[in-house]
Amino acid sequence: MKARKLEATPRAVARRLLPWFRRHARDLPWRHTRDPYAIWVSEIMLQQTQVRTVIPYWTRWMEQLPDIASLAAAPLDLVHKLWEGLGYYSRARNLQKAAQIIVDRHHGRFPIDLPAILDLPGIGPYTAGAVASIAFNQPAPILDGNVIRVLARCFLIDQPVRAAATRGLLWRRATAILEASRSLARLPHPQFPLPVNCSAFNQSLMELGVTVFPPRLPDCSHCPLRDVCSPRHSCRIASS
Ligand code: ADE
Repeated sequence: MKARKLEATPRAVARRLLPWFRRHARDLPWRHTRDPYAIWVSEIMLQQTQVRTVIPYWTRWMEQLPDIASLAAAPLDLVHKLWEGLGYYSRARNLQKAAQIIVDRHHGRFPIDLPAILDLPGIGPYTAGAVASIAFNQPAPILDGNVIRVLARCFLIDQPVRAAATRGLLWRRATAILEASRSLARLPHPQFPLPVNCSAFNQSLMELGVTVFPPRLPDCSHCPLRDVCSPRHSCRIASS
């Protein structure tokens, strides 16, 4: 008898993601640290730029400007030189401005508080949520293009994703699956014997979006959500 499709509830999605991530996460250099500065730099570099391009830039940056104080005090020429080739130089200038603000207002320590993170130049809701969750394990949802594809496909959201109402719906979904993962992690469950881990959970969403759900050709046969995902998904996504 053919197995009946299960429904893609936040809980069903959450339950499948972390175990998959533990097995399939790429080994990226910024995944070996919980230093919020290192994670922040990686997230800013990863905006508009692919992982394989970012790795040598991030490594060189971290060698030459290993912490917030060194970035805040660095000559702008050096900051530009380390960024050269990545484009969108305002990202590098904002990193330095934000580092100077952190030195002045936060005693040189990256703020933990989400509103304080959001107050820094060059940091929007995605980056704030990414640093708060990845570095500090805070339950802050994230939404970027990769996460949007995952959510839109598995929850069959087929309204234009740039519309304000759709954005609201997507943020609610991102929050709901993060919450579902937190509540699952509190239960004894054979597939989920892990402590609450917002850091790994948010990274698992991004990782799925990048590696299994690229914009054009989702690799459904390797998808941990294939038993809950609607077969209609790939042709129903509105990307504009
Ligand atoms: N793209 C942006 N941030 C990422 C992350 N933390 N992991 C994988 N891909 C990403």
